[in-house]
Amino acid sequence: SAAEKAGYDWFMRKEIYEQPEAVANTLLGRYDVDGALRLDQMSIAASELKRIDKIVVIACGTASYAGLVAKYAIEHWTRIPCEVELASEFRYRDPIVGPTTLVVAISQSGETADTLMAIRHAREQRARVVAICNTNGSTIPRESDGVIYTHAGPEIGVASTKGFLTQLVACYLLGLYLAQVRGTLFGDEVERLMAELEQMPDTLRGMLENQDQVLKLASDFSDNPSVLFLGRHVGYPVALEGALKLKELAYIHAEGFAAGELKHGPIALIEDRLPVFVVVPPRGRDLLHDKVVSNIQEVRARGAFTVVLAEEDDDEVSPYADVLIGLPKVSTLLQPLLAIVPLQLFACELATLKGHDVDQPRNLAKSVTVE
Ligand code: AGP
Repeated sequence: SAAEKAGYDWFMRKEIYEQPEAVANTLLGRYDVDGALRLDQMSIAASELKRIDKIVVIACGTASYAGLVAKYAIEHWTRIPCEVELASEFRYRDPIVGPTTLVVAISQSGETADTLMAIRHAREQRARVVAICNTNGSTIPRESDGVIYTHAGPEIGVASTKGFLTQLVACYLLGLYLAQVRGTLFGDEVERLMAELEQMPDTLRGMLENQDQVLKLASDFSDNPSVLFLGRHVGYPVALEGALKLKELAYIHAEGFAAGELKHGPIALIEDRLPVFVVVPPRGRDLLHDKVVSNIQEVRARGAFTVVLAEEDDDEVSPYADVLIGLPKVSTLLQPLLAIVPLQLFACELATLKGHDVDQPRNLAKSVTVE
């Protein structure tokens, strides 16, 4: 009913606007005054976590994109090799896991059959499993050694939104926790990142107040048959997730690419006026930002209409943006928390304009409990 949706037209839109609070709830009680990360239900001893020599993240759909972001963060902070695998592929290829492998199963519902089967397989090989999950007492956390609950509150819309943001936060917390246990981050790095994370609910609130431009863009694009999304580094999973949202909700062809792959094929798709969304990393000391700026020039030179998500005062990229969506300044690894929000709203609005049922897209179920 309308009352349950608190005045919003869709649960999905309500859940997008709930993200600041959801993120705050994921963070709640997880960082001590003395500067130690606390994951009370992790239930895997520090001595064991010190012996872990490989991390495998297992998930489906949106949760797997959170896993891709986790790989960048966890490897950078802990120096433990981390791979990400779609749950539906994992157990059918005789994967190498054992007692020194930490499997991280990400699932909003905690009931996804593919993910559940994958963790059962991993535990048979004596791997330790920690679940990142939003549903208390669901099957996946019950069958795992430990759990990090995201506490986002129920997610009703079939398209995951606050589920995704809070999975990202839980992955960051896990990465920083492992870094603390293993002593791989120095100086005030954990403190600095936690301060940024704790600022995130306010930052998101500010962003959500200013999304008119994105809503307008959806009405301009409502007749478009195809949209591309590009990103590099953690912007790449954001591109994949932005594309998935459009497929699920607006039923239009949407594809996410790693921007560096353009020349290896996808650039052949670019034609006049094709909308291309590009996630631009913050301007840092590395070359990443400039590489993406040149990728934008490449697609624009071939006629693409570029919608650029970049730091709000990024004047190096603004000349190549047909539309510039400003993002608040934040560390590169945390940027997905912000960059995905306009893409969620864009998909929600476009589907609304096309008259689709946003909360219950055709052919989809909220949790996929059969293989
Ligand atoms: C997200 O918008 C999708 N509906 C879907 O990809 C979902 O993320 C996937 O099925 C995994 O679900 P889970 O997190 O409940 O395991």
